[in-house]
Amino acid sequence: MTTYSLLILPGDGIGPEVMAEVRKVVGWFQTNRGLNFDVSEDLVGGAAYDKHGTPLADETMARAQAADAVLLGAVGGQKYDDLDFSVKPERGLLRLRKEMDLFANLRPAQCFDALADFSSLKREVVAGLDILIVRELTSGIYFGQPRGISEDHTPGNEGGRVGINTQRYTSGEIRRVARSAFELARKRGNRVCSMEKANVMESGILWREEVQWVHDNEYPDVELSHMYADNGAMQLVRNPRQFDVIVTDNLFGDILSDAAAMLTGSLGMLPSASLGAPMENGRPKALYEPVHGSAPDIAGQGLANPIACILSFAMCLRYSFGLGAEADMLEKAVETVLAQGVRTADLMGPEGGTPVSTGQMGDHIVAALSAL
Ligand code: NAD
Ligand code: IPM
Ligand code: MN
Repeated sequence: MTTYSLLILPGDGIGPEVMAEVRKVVGWFQTNRGLNFDVSEDLVGGAAYDKHGTPLADETMARAQAADAVLLGAVGGQKYDDLDFSVKPERGLLRLRKEMDLFANLRPAQCFDALADFSSLKREVVAGLDILIVRELTSGIYFGQPRGISEDHTPGNEGGRVGINTQRYTSGEIRRVARSAFELARKRGNRVCSMEKANVMESGILWREEVQWVHDNEYPDVELSHMYADNGAMQLVRNPRQFDVIVTDNLFGDILSDAAAMLTGSLGMLPSASLGAPMENGRPKALYEPVHGSAPDIAGQGLANPIACILSFAMCLRYSFGLGAEADMLEKAVETVLAQGVRTADLMGPEGGTPVSTGQMGDHIVAALSAL
């Protein structure tokens, strides 16, 4: 029987809380579907800093490289705000993405019908929404050199310092993430909208040209359009259903996906998959994590919505283990529970109601799996 190795990195804040619910789901698939998961757990982010003085120990990095898939909760928290930049919790996550070369970050935003009235936008705008943001994840301004804070005594520079980050993309980096977007589009609505700022940035001009090149040479059957990212942000709020797949850079993708989250009702709903190139076994290196952060404002109170993390595990079943039917089941269980009116506090609409806790939401989803 195939054994799937799964490294779980709960992280900080609500990370461990939502991950506890994923563990229930993993356990359910093990018991009821005969799947064999070899689950291990390790530290990342502030939790790793507290133990090792680094947000990602080298041994943990090696375990992540060796695992079939990594599941991450969230990292960060006020406690770590004043740490040196090089050991901040977020650096642990960025190291994982970079060293595993997870260049394609899939962030689907789907509005479940039961939540169409919970979005901050009108039901008519969001009902039936199903878009996929493909965010480049290992380059761009997050990683470009030069970077840093240094002295700058240019006359007139009050304070005498300068902060530098560099937006840098190679054609190869753009082409590979564009291919991911076109491949994914072929399995859905067959449309890709590429977003950049080619009107003000050379890296945006290159982005547009290279995405167009990949389209013309390899995916002429997919419909491609280009949009400036600022207009894209507005269009996402005005009429999000015009999009199928959006492909964009690291920073724009970060911002646009948080905006897209609210179309679905809550940031607590958005899962993600970060994928590398296919390895010899045909599967990519992969890390799965909710789009949200460690939510320090609600941590430790049982208020967090675990659905984003649970749906990230559904993506893991689909993309890392080839278990599409099981992924569909899990998504169906989430849909069922939402249709039954089960809501965590973040999903309380204007009419209110009694929210369930993080743990109760997990229990409902497991019960719905059993009832399918
Ligand atoms: P956040 O995503 O943690 O929280 C934003 C808001 O959304 C908060 O009001 C929070 O309560 C709410 N929220 C988020 N997830 C929720 C959930 N599952 N259920 C219910 N409500 C939820 O963003 P932030 O407050 O800007 O950042 C907090 C910390 O998290 C920072 O240290 C940041 O760097 C880090 N962060 C980490 C990740 C990650 O690990 N992938 C992502 C984003 C932010
Ligand atoms: C995300 C987060 C991360 C990012 C941070 C925590 C490094 O905001 O995954 O969306 O900016 O990529
Ligand atoms: Mn983000």
